[in-house]
Amino acid sequence: MSPSSAPAVAAAAEAGGGVSPEAATEEVVVLDYGGQYSQLIARRVRECGVFSELLPHHAGAAEVARRNPRGVILSGGPASVYEQGAPPLDPELLELGVPVLGICYGMQLLARELGGEVQRADVGEFGRSQLTVHEPGRLLSGTPHQQSCWMSHRDTVFSAPPGFSALASSTASPVAAFESAQRAVFGIQFHPEVVHTPYGQQVLANFLEDVCGCERTWSPVSVIEDQINRIRAQVGEGRAICGLSGGVDSSVAALLVHRAIGERLTCVFVDHGLMRKNEGAQVITAFRDHFHVPLVAVDASERFLAGLRGVSDPEEKRKRIGAEFIRVFEEEAAKLQDVRFLVQGTLYSDVIESGGGNGTATIKSHHNVGGLPEDLEFELVEPLRALFKDEVRAVGAELGLPERLVWRQPFPGPGLAIRIVGGEATRERLETLREADAILQDEIRKAGLYRELWQSFCVLPDIRTVGVQGDSRTYGNVIAIRAVTSDDAMTADWARLPYELLERIASRMINEIRPVGRVVLDITSKPPGTIEWE
Ligand code: XMP
Repeated sequence: MSPSSAPAVAAAAEAGGGVSPEAATEEVVVLDYGGQYSQLIARRVRECGVFSELLPHHAGAAEVARRNPRGVILSGGPASVYEQGAPPLDPELLELGVPVLGICYGMQLLARELGGEVQRADVGEFGRSQLTVHEPGRLLSGTPHQQSCWMSHRDTVFSAPPGFSALASSTASPVAAFESAQRAVFGIQFHPEVVHTPYGQQVLANFLEDVCGCERTWSPVSVIEDQINRIRAQVGEGRAICGLSGGVDSSVAALLVHRAIGERLTCVFVDHGLMRKNEGAQVITAFRDHFHVPLVAVDASERFLAGLRGVSDPEEKRKRIGAEFIRVFEEEAAKLQDVRFLVQGTLYSDVIESGGGNGTATIKSHHNVGGLPEDLEFELVEPLRALFKDEVRAVGAELGLPERLVWRQPFPGPGLAIRIVGGEATRERLETLREADAILQDEIRKAGLYRELWQSFCVLPDIRTVGVQGDSRTYGNVIAIRAVTSDDAMTADWARLPYELLERIASRMINEIRPVGRVVLDITSKPPGTIEWE
């Protein structure tokens, strides 16, 4: 299935480009050569207390230099350095006078550029591997002689460039790490950013602190003041509007902007009647009663239900919900005077995925509240553009957002409507699904598993099955339980929930919700399945 498409909002892009918190902040640039772990490298650097930005590999030395970084990391990537069209190394990066660390493909690029020997090995090295450190140098300092690490490569460095020390080897890599402290150029074949490399964080910390001289002062919370100043500078005496969905991104964005401009922010919460149990009330209580944010809460459930009458095709449901959302939002926006700014919870991963980061206006494609149309002509305020999801949660917690909202699992914009599969989202079916979902969440929370799961939810297919309760036959609904673990929703694994928990959930659903006659468990991973059913 495909997510609802989000039309672009005509927007003035962030002036000056980039996402750096402030000019004085120390920064390390990660150049992305297409590796699956590139974002993770940037996150790990930040976990070491150093701000880091991910730039495309073709950004060029001048673009990197503009950020005045303390160091540059070249990521891994799927190409072979010998392939036609393989992403090259810009040699000028080595002339910037800042330390450079190449990881995997990044190391191979450095080796080739500087006169080392890189070749395609007969056997690849994928997964856990054993690393033997011959000479720790600065990079591997403080790590043991023997350690395990995570590898994912076929090309291999057979000799380090002249003047470099070969620091370590592994079963399939004669040179698994090299360095020239004098030139401040370092390479590692293994992936320090993944959890399967137990000393990976130490190696990164060595590079950041000892080699680059970084101070470890950055934290997601440290950007709050800076963002508030930026929002004030951008909005001036103007007014802003924010579509609140109850998700963590829009909630944190709204709170930050409220801190910056107070009552000149109005939040609009459109209750489309497709939310989970009590969710609308939680959002309203938190924002209106607790934070005293001016909030327009619109109960539009009748309108949405009417719009969904007779519709069973999932894409048609998405379209109608999206269109209705825009109508309601526009009506509410029109009632407010002089609003020029629209607050969006765009995250750094959205910026990276849309190739932005240089002042391009970016809109989430998996928009939490449905897409907004081009002719709204607001100027965008995007205070979370520099942050990853877990960092946004930290900011939310710091701003006092209730735990339930900080840790809310992702929830699709079209809500429960796309979880009534193959049939119309009627009021009765929504009620059944909502109750089933509430039991699932309740039991999963009680079992302490809520945060471990990327998503956990119920699906109601439009079929009925036979059962027997007491002495009579029943003909009831089926509820499917879907629970997955995932890092980013691109891939997911079905969660191995304990049998006792599943039993409790199934029994409660059948006993407490009249129309439910059968409960099943979805054991499909993504791929080949998707997370949602339609
Ligand atoms: P799939 O089902 O494609 O879902 O594996 C990946 C992630 O996207 C969410 N999702 C949506 N989010 N509008 C949204 O805002 C949608 O139409 C939509 N469809 C799927 C899904 O919940 C999962 O987190």
